Amino acid sequence: MSKEPGRVVLAAEDIVKTYRSGERRIDVLRGVDLAIREGESVSIRGESGSGKTTLLNILAGLERADAGRLFWQGEQVSGRSLNHLAVRRRGFIGMVFQAYYLVPELNALDNVILAGRIAGKNTRLLRERARALLARVGLAERVDHLPSRLSGGECQRVAIARALINEPPLILADEPTGNLDERTAEDVIDLLLGLCRETRTALVLVTHNAEHARRTSRQCRLHLGRLEA
Ligand SMILES: Nc1ncnc2c1ncn2[C@@H]1O[C@H](COP(=O)(O)OP(=O)(O)O)[C@@H](O)[C@H]1O
Ligand SMILES: [Mg+2]
Repeated sequence: MSKEPGRVVLAAEDIVKTYRSGERRIDVLRGVDLAIREGESVSIRGESGSGKTTLLNILAGLERADAGRLFWQGEQVSGRSLNHLAVRRRGFIGMVFQAYYLVPELNALDNVILAGRIAGKNTRLLRERARALLARVGLAERVDHLPSRLSGGECQRVAIARALINEPPLILADEPTGNLDERTAEDVIDLLLGLCRETRTALVLVTHNAEHARRTSRQCRLHLGRLEA
């Protein structure tokens, strides 16, 4: 494995986010700095409500920060509209969520293909790649199953295949094993880390599980609105 530090795929500088509900003000992020390099894996732990999901959504361009700068592959995107970010995100970030978010009407294969079609890829190639990815996550025999016929662990495997379909340089995973039993969670983490390593995809893993967190190349903690090493 190369010891050269890779290029920075994502950088966040001094990210600030405050929510207001009525009179109440919640300073969720008070100046978060983070740089993710090519192929590296970083875990983020933190108490419930510490702002992990808020941070991940801002990194993903799903939500705007109140202040700070966000760079995707060197391009400053923090000033851009959420629509612009949505288009740019397709080939750049794959996302995995705790609740899977598969389309219930589509089978496993079509769930994976859909993410590629949205990115405008050729359907025949997508179909081949989706089948290969589903085989790699252990679902070769389940490609035509609807999510309702899959277990939680199997749904998350489909979601991992979907996150990788556009060969993004970065995956953001928000408590991907939060709904899974211990044994299944272990398998899903093995897969996620293994696939990211094989494909040199950078990974940000938000997790409550200390053992899972320890398996990434770098560990951070979100505490009082700041990210600590
Ligand atoms: N859209 C929102 N409006 C108001 N408050 C929010 C919103 N989203 C999150 N929060 C609050 O911000 C804090 C951080 O939430 P979140 O990022 O979901 O934390 P975590 O993922 O670490 O559990 C919590 O206090 C939560 O209630
Ligand atoms: Mg959360």
